[in-house]
Amino acid sequence: MEKRAYIETYGCQMNVNDTEVIFSILKDAGYARTEVMEQADLVMANTCSIRDNAEQRIWGRIEAFNQLRASRPGLIVGIVGCMAERLKDKLLETHKVDLVVGPDAYRSLPRLLNAIGPDSPQIDVLLSRDETYADIPPVRTDRNGISAFISIMRGCNNVCSYCVVPYTRGAERSRDANSIAREACDVYQKGYREVTLLGQNVDSYLWNSGTESVTFAGLLERVAAIAPDLRVRFATSHPKDISDEVIYTMAAHPNICKHIHLPVQSGSTRLLEKMRRKYSREWYLERVAKIREVMPECGLTTDVIAGFCSETPEDHQDTLSLMEEVGFDWAFMFAYSDRPGTLANRTMQDDVPADEKNRRLNEIIQLQNRKSLERYRAQIGKRLEVLVEGPSKRDPSMLCGRASNNMMCVFPAAGRAAGQYTQVLVKDCTSATLLCE
Ligand code: SAH
Ligand code: SF4
Ligand code: F3S
Repeated sequence: MEKRAYIETYGCQMNVNDTEVIFSILKDAGYARTEVMEQADLVMANTCSIRDNAEQRIWGRIEAFNQLRASRPGLIVGIVGCMAERLKDKLLETHKVDLVVGPDAYRSLPRLLNAIGPDSPQIDVLLSRDETYADIPPVRTDRNGISAFISIMRGCNNVCSYCVVPYTRGAERSRDANSIAREACDVYQKGYREVTLLGQNVDSYLWNSGTESVTFAGLLERVAAIAPDLRVRFATSHPKDISDEVIYTMAAHPNICKHIHLPVQSGSTRLLEKMRRKYSREWYLERVAKIREVMPECGLTTDVIAGFCSETPEDHQDTLSLMEEVGFDWAFMFAYSDRPGTLANRTMQDDVPADEKNRRLNEIIQLQNRKSLERYRAQIGKRLEVLVEGPSKRDPSMLCGRASNNMMCVFPAAGRAAGQYTQVLVKDCTSATLLCE
């Protein structure tokens, strides 16, 4: 009888995509996907280590999995992903799971699953220089069937001093451009109308076939050429690497969405240096100016960290003033979380007290909320092209979908269906949604 696997996914979009790769590998090993934990023979968490609170949340789930196993002998409990890579065999001791597998070792899952016994948990946390899972067709787990995520690279070669990703994901490597184009064609033929190309730093994508070199701009062109009604998005861009060539390529193709997620982290050049981001406040502002010069309507979003090591009130003011000046549409905002093993953890003091971190974070959030509302209000009266994703969550009699700039729009169905493009007129807004006709 076919076995069933249940996976909970935490962390970034790349992890969501990895879960799809894992389901594909498990399918070949005789496991079908289930969304009901109680029906599963294999229960796993695909985990994230980016901040301590991300890990804390996951510990609770591991406990729940172990409880389920106590009532269902034979159930296999596994931890995969970034926490598996960070904590390795410690997880076998502290949490008595059956399976620990790192992000580059998913191909060994069938072998490990076969080898598991009551007293023989299995582990593989080897990182790889070349694994990209290029030949594994992901089992899509999205619900709308309209928008697919495609990994174009893995790992990260930067050493931002606060970040665990280089340790949990290993060195950067780019995936075969032909396999990316094939996957994009394939999802288009299945009815998808949007692909998002994923990497920690997409601007440093570089793939060499032996006869040709493909840069990120080249890859964008290739995917954009698949079909005029296939939208192309991407994330994440790095301010130090986003090139004019990429900006001009975006501008030249109507189906490359005009939205850039450009994490700034801090507005203080002194702090950016301590973070090892390799750009200054001025450099960042120049990149934003260039983007807006070439694409005035381009959506811009960012990530901000409050209270990094040695951050002074002046540094914090620099972050606020940069956010004021740029006017992001939206931002992910975090209090700095010290991560074991990172450069900051080893060589700097986590010296901004927790309540001060949170105070600064709240100021950042309040400023961003005001800016978001401004940015969304500025869209009122405009006509936008939207790709219909499906019924709106708030009001299922309405439809929702994104504009090219990534803003979510809600509008009356009027005979439209998911996967179609439609023109809307923006009538009103909140700080996260455009209400349209
Ligand atoms: N590769 C992307 C981001 C990956 S992690 C980039 O370079 O921008 C996503 C976000 O988590 C980061 O942009 C950063 O804002 C945040 N982050 C990473 N490590 C963190 C830490 N130790 N504490 C708080 N936030 C962190
Ligand atoms: Fe982390 Fe920096 Fe790499 Fe982004 S670029 S994943 S923040 S090390
Ligand atoms: Fe988290 Fe790993 Fe992604 S640490 S943010 S799941 S790369």
